[in-house]
Amino acid sequence: MSARGEFSSRIGFIMAAAGSAVGLGNIWGFPTNVADNGGGAFVFVYIILTFLLAYPILMAELTIGRYSRSNMVDGLAKISSGAKSRHAGHWVGTWALIVASLILAFYSIVAGWMLAYGLEAVSSMLGLERFSTWLTGFGTTRNIIFCAVFACLTVGIIRGGVSDGIEKWSTRLMPILLVIIVLLIGYVATLDGASEGWRVYLFPDFARTLNPDLLIAAMGQAFFSLSLGVGTMFIYGSYIPSDQNLPALGASVTVVDIGVAILAGLLVIPAMYVAQHNGVQIYSESGELLAGDTLIFTVLPALFETMGAAGNFVAIAFFALMTIAALTSSISMLEVPVCYAIERYDISRHGATWIVAGMIFLASCVIILNFDALFGFVVDFTTRYSEPMLGLLLCIFAGWVWRRDILLSELAQGHPDIEQSLFWKIWPSYVRFVCPLLIALVFYQSVFG
Ligand code: PHE
Repeated sequence: MSARGEFSSRIGFIMAAAGSAVGLGNIWGFPTNVADNGGGAFVFVYIILTFLLAYPILMAELTIGRYSRSNMVDGLAKISSGAKSRHAGHWVGTWALIVASLILAFYSIVAGWMLAYGLEAVSSMLGLERFSTWLTGFGTTRNIIFCAVFACLTVGIIRGGVSDGIEKWSTRLMPILLVIIVLLIGYVATLDGASEGWRVYLFPDFARTLNPDLLIAAMGQAFFSLSLGVGTMFIYGSYIPSDQNLPALGASVTVVDIGVAILAGLLVIPAMYVAQHNGVQIYSESGELLAGDTLIFTVLPALFETMGAAGNFVAIAFFALMTIAALTSSISMLEVPVCYAIERYDISRHGATWIVAGMIFLASCVIILNFDALFGFVVDFTTRYSEPMLGLLLCIFAGWVWRRDILLSELAQGHPDIEQSLFWKIWPSYVRFVCPLLIALVFYQSVFG
C-alpha cells in the first residue's frame, strides 16, 4: 500500500464513492426536484443527463486523480505540460477546494437539522415536550450545537484515513442505509394514499421534459449528486489501485447513485400523498406541490404525527437515514482540503483534520449567524454556478490539456482489453468536444436564459 493511503478492495472503493454520491442530494434534493418539476418527467431527464453529462465527467476526475495520485490542486498541475496550463490547473484546483469546503459548511448545518429532528422523535416518545419544541425550532444555538456534533462525527471518520476511516465506515453505513430505505418504502406502500404518489412518480408527462427550468434543475442535481467538480471524486480516484478497471468502477458508482435517488423518490413522493390522505396540506395556494424544506420539515413530520405510535419510530428511521447519507458524503468533502493540507504542508492527518474541520466549522457558524443573507447565496454559488463550471474545466483539462497518449494509457491500466470497448471509442472525444459544449449550453440557459 502506498504511503498516502489506498482503498483496500474494489467493493471498498465502490462503497466509499457511492457513499459520497448518495447523500442529502439523493434523499432530499431529488424527491424535492421531482415534486417541483412535474414528477416522472424530471426522473426521466435526470437519468438521461446523468449518463450523458455526469458519468463522463466522473470518469475524467477518476482518471486524472488516479494518474496524478494527488489532490486536485497539484493533480491538475501535474498533467499540464506548459507553464500557463500548470498555473491554471493550480487555480482551478484551488477553486474546487474552496467550493468543497463551502459545500461542507452548509451541508453540516443541514445534516445537523437531521440529527435534531431524529432526536426530537426520541424526546417526544419520552414526553419531553419543551426539549422537543427547542429541537424543532429554528434557533441559533440549536443550529450551532448540532452542526458541531455532525462535524465531530465527520472528523472522527476522516482522522482514521483512507482504508481505516473512509472505507471502513462507508462499508458499514451504506448497507444500513439501503436496509432502512427499503423497509420505509415497504411500510409507506401499505398506507392509504400511497398509490397516487406512485402514479405521479412513475408516469412521466413527456410534454414537460424539454422545459428549460427542468433541464437546468436536472443538470444541477446530476452534478451535485455525483459529487462532481469539487475534487472529491478526484481524491477518491487517487486512492484507487492501478489494477482496477476505471470505467466499470465509475459505472457502478453512477448506477448506485441513480438507484438510491429513485428509491428515495419511491419513499418520499408516496409519503406526501399519504400525508395528504391524512389531512396534511401538500399543495401550496398556487397549486404547486410543496417542496424544499417544507417537504422535509413540515409535511413529513406532520405525516409522522398522524401515524400514531408507529410515527415516532418511522421518524427516527427516516432521520437516521438522512444522517447516515449525509455522513458518508461529508467525509468525502472534508477529505479534499485535508488531503491537500497533508500533502502541501506535510502535517499529520490527525492535525490536518482538526485544523481544517475547525476552519470549516467557523464558516458554518458565520452562515448560521447570517442565515438569511448567506445560506441561499452559498448554496447557489457552490452548486448552481461553481460545480458546472468546474465540471466544464475538468473536461478541458482531460480533453485538451492532458497528453492524449498518457490519458489513454492510464485508462488501459487495469483494463487490458479496453480497446475493444465502446467506452474507448466514444469517451475520449466525447469529453473533449461534446461535454463542454453541452454544459456550456445548459449553463448559459441557467444564467442568462
Ligand atoms: N453527492 C452528495 C449528495 O448527493 C453531495 C456532495 C457534493 C458530496 C459534492 C461531495 C461533494 O448529497
